[in-house]
Amino acid sequence: MTSLESIARERAEASGGQLLVLGIEDRQALVTLEQEIFPEDPWTTGMIAQELSSGRSVYFGVCVNDDAVAPPVLYGYAGIALGIDADVMTMGVLPDFRGRGLGRVLMDALIDVARRWGSERVFLEVRESNAAAISLYENSGFEVVGRTKGYFRNPREDALNMRLIVR
Ligand SMILES: CC(C)(COP(=O)(O)OP(=O)(O)OC[C@H]1O[C@@H](n2cnc3c(N)ncnc32)[C@H](O)[C@@H]1OP(=O)(O)O)[C@@H](O)C(=O)NCCC(=O)NCCS
Repeated sequence: MTSLESIARERAEASGGQLLVLGIEDRQALVTLEQEIFPEDPWTTGMIAQELSSGRSVYFGVCVNDDAVAPPVLYGYAGIALGIDADVMTMGVLPDFRGRGLGRVLMDALIDVARRWGSERVFLEVRESNAAAISLYENSGFEVVGRTKGYFRNPREDALNMRLIVR
């Protein structure tokens, strides 16, 4: 097990079963989530498979499992690519389960992993119209450090570039 994997697994275990570390075997579940969360511009199966098998990224799913036998149901997920500068790759929660703290659980886990991995900064891009996500990120300590014109497509929109200093 690489140390990045162990950091991720320890963080998931500390969540008391709310977080799962996702791997390539979860790609079909993520395809389904992507299509529900980002219907205008979902990642393709190939992009998801590539991300899930990247050795420098960690993907968490957030789940609820009321039944000890049935597999947990994923309500959202988030991923981060680690480095001195870490990049939040994606984050989303199913529409019916928003506003219940799941986005916060995911973001706290990404930041913890970046800090433990030794990242110095975490960056992300967000649509400038995405008030819910911007609020979550600002409450997590991110600040706007720039803007990338036309970064997003479907529909085309500028990105706010946000940064969190973690050490
Ligand atoms: C952004 C997103 C992940 C937040 O997930 P969530 O589970 O609803 O978030 P939480 O319930 O944990 O809320 C966390 C914070 O987000 C902010 N927030 C959430 N919903 C909000 C809303 N409708 N309006 C304003 N702020 C909101 C608040 O700052 C909240 O802080 P609080 O806990 O102090 O109230 C979710 O809205 C989503 O999946 N959106 C669609 C996909 C997306 O835009 N992803 C981000 C791409 S950059």
